Amino acid sequence: MKTFLAKTSTKIIIGVILIGAAFFGVFKYVEYRFDLLAGVVAQSKDNLSEADQKIAELEATLAGTQSTVTSALDQAEVSNRNLKDQVNEMTNTVGALEKLSTTDPELLKKYSKVYFLNEHYVPISLSDIPAEDRSKSSTNFQFHSDALPYLEKMIEAANDEDGLSLLAQSAYRSFAAQSVLKANYKVIYGAGTANSFSADQGYSEHQLGTTLDFTTGKTAGALEGFDKTPEYKWLLDNAYQYGFVISYPANNAYYKYEPWHWRFVGVALATRLHDDKTYFYGMDQRIIDTYLAQIFD
Ligand code: DAL
Repeated sequence: MKTFLAKTSTKIIIGVILIGAAFFGVFKYVEYRFDLLAGVVAQSKDNLSEADQKIAELEATLAGTQSTVTSALDQAEVSNRNLKDQVNEMTNTVGALEKLSTTDPELLKKYSKVYFLNEHYVPISLSDIPAEDRSKSSTNFQFHSDALPYLEKMIEAANDEDGLSLLAQSAYRSFAAQSVLKANYKVIYGAGTANSFSADQGYSEHQLGTTLDFTTGKTAGALEGFDKTPEYKWLLDNAYQYGFVISYPANNAYYKYEPWHWRFVGVALATRLHDDKTYFYGMDQRIIDTYLAQIFD
């Protein structure tokens, strides 16, 4: 009996030991697998944060590239605009130079005792002032062809006003015509008086074809007294809009006051003289010359 008990106890002990060993083995295996999994999870986490960092780096690089491209595009646009401006400027300059090369430089020179036109100078083209725009006693009624449309428009605008009758009395005078006129004045008035209101041949603005004396339909060609007429008042207020200026206002340094004597200098220069409240002979010739290219604009 003793022996049986001893054998049974031994078996139980061995069984318990075996079961314990089995549990231990299973535990160890599970622990091993868990460690493996934890390692994989940790590695994945590392990979993930590395990927995040790479993405952030790529995003930063992309943003940098975008800003470089944007600023390069902006710069290209600015350069393009500058280039266009330069081309426009050059085109304008070429246009102005072309106009300048085909515009008679004499048209804006000071001819009253300053510059001189020789006996061969004749305007490039002359046309007759229409009969309805000139006085019946007018003898010199040709005008510079390019300035004539401005004159016609101005006379038409003036005569659209109630009671006004502005007319051309004396326009283009050749060197020879001025010479004869001046000689006659000298005989009639004496040289001193003649010199105060009449230019010597070569020095008269009338030889340019862009200058004329006005009269009115009521005064039959008379010049004296023109400053008392509403036509003169109208010219003072409006002539600059058609490119005309009075050459010899009161107290000028060249001739006696000539309210009837007007010269075409182009709308831009006439407007400048009007705005500055000065007259043609009071302006520096270098400034006047800058208006030559646009005289017929
Ligand atoms: N009456 C102006 C000065 C001329 O003879 O041209």
